Amino acid sequence: MAPSPRFAGEAHAFNNEGPMLPELAFRELSRVTSALGNAYLDHARATLNTIIARPDLLEGVALERNGQRYTRTLLFGDSQMSVWAILWPPGAKTSIHDHHCSCCFGVVRGTLSELWFRPVDARQVAVEAIARREKGFVAAMLPSGPNIHQMVNEGTEDALSVHIYGFDHTRHESSIHVEYELAAQ
Ligand SMILES: [Fe+2]
Repeated sequence: MAPSPRFAGEAHAFNNEGPMLPELAFRELSRVTSALGNAYLDHARATLNTIIARPDLLEGVALERNGQRYTRTLLFGDSQMSVWAILWPPGAKTSIHDHHCSCCFGVVRGTLSELWFRPVDARQVAVEAIARREKGFVAAMLPSGPNIHQMVNEGTEDALSVHIYGFDHTRHESSIHVEYELAAQ
């Protein structure tokens, strides 16, 4: 049985041996973690805005291309993150998916559609929102709840985006956590 707090109104976290640290310490740790996360997202947005403002930075990059599929070209990778240029020919689309890591992206050229979904069950989803992501659009998130989406190039021209993901490309194939199917309407 978990020990009781030492006095009324004092909340504690416990391990198997008894009182460990006051809840206040964990609240402070959580606050610092949130602040660090927000600082990371701010920096990622600024980095993406710089790339969008200077598309010449990507001119020397030999972009992977594979017919009508979207393709990723690694721009940078270390143990914390990988940065990819993604080329979207007309009609290219991702699966419906969510992410196991942070996901920040900016549209460098062209326009993408982003569909957001709500879960119906463990594997099926329904469309919740559709947005157009024009050149210059930047998004940054640290997934902490349902974050199911799909990217599509519905235009007639190639689109190009840059994605900063919080995964080590030598350990993970991609940022995708789970792939979903559209539920019957
Ligand atoms: Fe995604």
